[in-house]
Amino acid sequence: MGRIIAVANQKGGVGKTTTSINLAACLAEKGFKVLAVDMDPQGHLTTGLGIQKDELELTIHDVIRDECNIGEAMIVNVFPGLNIIPSNRYLAGIEVEFAGKEDTQYKLKERLWKIKDRFDYIIIDCPPALGLLTINSMTAANTVLVPIQCEFFALDGLAQLIYTIELIQENLNKDLKIEGVVFTMYDSRTNLSLQVVENVKENLNQNVYKTIIPRNVRLAEAPSHGLPIIKYDSRCPGSESYRLLADEVITNIYV
Ligand SMILES: Nc1ncnc2c1ncn2[C@@H]1O[C@H](COP(=O)(O)OP(=O)(O)O)[C@@H](O)[C@H]1O
Ligand SMILES: [Mg+2]
Repeated sequence: MGRIIAVANQKGGVGKTTTSINLAACLAEKGFKVLAVDMDPQGHLTTGLGIQKDELELTIHDVIRDECNIGEAMIVNVFPGLNIIPSNRYLAGIEVEFAGKEDTQYKLKERLWKIKDRFDYIIIDCPPALGLLTINSMTAANTVLVPIQCEFFALDGLAQLIYTIELIQENLNKDLKIEGVVFTMYDSRTNLSLQVVENVKENLNQNVYKTIIPRNVRLAEAPSHGLPIIKYDSRCPGSESYRLLADEVITNIYV
């Protein structure tokens, strides 16, 4: 039975896509069958895994509009065990295309649940907003994983995110759980990173992953080569930390 994890935070630049790509790649490296779903019209997960987003015939956009079979849009084994449903800018039209239609929150779930059992993990990279694409992702998911960037405004917006998750639990997906929060871009040279971690832990009554993702320039370079970090620099701190995060996700007792 596959576990569907939505990686969400309405703030941009907090590490959602980096976490989605590298968590998915590390789970695949450990021998699991993984599907990564790009739900962001920016298509950064798609390009970060080496796929030319503007040359795609079929994307997640066609899937949720019922214009193709989910298998037709899937690119299989981009890396061994890692499959992807890509996205590009056309996905941005969905809010307008779905306006006035009913049950549009369930579109991704209807499609993903048909193939869920073929995978051990399905990782959904959400866009930086709490609109229909994120709502579809959280409605389809078993859990939400929240990356939090170690910066001064880390807590800002978190209450709104938790509130959205609660609304989804009440109205669309009663079984949705919070997988946990993971701190990203931790800079051990500054006190600020440490303060942010302590502050969030004090104020947030959620599972916090022990693994903290350090700020590591290799993690920022890897997507421009179309590679997950473990293929770009297998021994760098970024690789080591995402492998540890994957171990924790596998053994998470809260979900
Ligand atoms: N741990 C990290 N160390 C260094 N750079 C990072 C790290 N995590 C993410 N980045 C970089 O920060 C930027 C934002 O990250 P990204 O994962 O795209 O965030 P989001 O998907 O939340 O918008 C990207 O340029 C990415 O390469
Ligand atoms: Mg992103």
